[in-house]
Order: sequence, then structure tokens, then C-alpha cells
Amino acid sequence: MTKVRELYKCSICGNVVEVVNPGAPALVCCHQPMDKLDALAQDGAKEKHVPVLEATAAGLLAKVGEVPHPMEEKHSIRFIEILTATQVLRAELSPGQKPEAVFAVAKEDVLEVREYCNLHGLWKA
Ligand SMILES: [Fe+2]
Repeated sequence: MTKVRELYKCSICGNVVEVVNPGAPALVCCHQPMDKLDALAQDGAKEKHVPVLEATAAGLLAKVGEVPHPMEEKHSIRFIEILTATQVLRAELSPGQKPEAVFAVAKEDVLEVREYCNLHGLWKA
């Protein structure tokens, strides 16, 4: 059974979907089951993927990596999400932008921050 906030990816076409209401025992895309994305927290990759949070006057800044992650057409961060007890806040990013986003949320309300790299998957802190 799927659960709210789970992310799934199709290994064929690259579709990534987030569950906002659970129901199906499995999600199917391109005639095969989608893979559940499990967030990694340890960074073994050369680029840094683990999100870092920093309180600023404008809001809570979420950066991807202490070393900025590439933001190229073929390899980039596609979104950053902040999870609180009652909300999922998502910033959609595009190649050419900085791998970061500002969220109007208090740091103490953050349960998890996660980001999705199109090549290296889901990462959390
Ligand atoms: Fe990456």
C-alpha cells in the first residue's frame, strides 16, 4: 500500500510521482511497477547531495550540498521539499538556477528536508 509523501520513479520513462492520497498497492508506469525512492542521507558521490538548512532574514534557506550541486540540463536538482507535520513545501528548480530555495517556515517545524537529483536520486537531511 502506498503512503502519503512517498515518491516513486519509473525506471523506463523517468516519471517521478508523489503520493498525496494513499490507495493503490503499487503504482504502474510504462506497463511495470514503479520503484519507491528511498532517500539517502550519506553522501558518497563526488557532488554533494545532502540538503543543508540555514536561517536567513528572508526565510529558511535550503541548499543542496556544502559544495553547490551542478545545475545542468543533463544533471540537476529538480526539486527541494520541506516536510512539516502538516505540510509539504516544494520548490521546483530548473537548470541554470542555483541549487537552493527559500521557504517560509520555521526551522523548528521542519521534520525533514529532501531533494531530488535526476541522476543520483533522492537525498534527505
Ligand atoms: Fe547529482
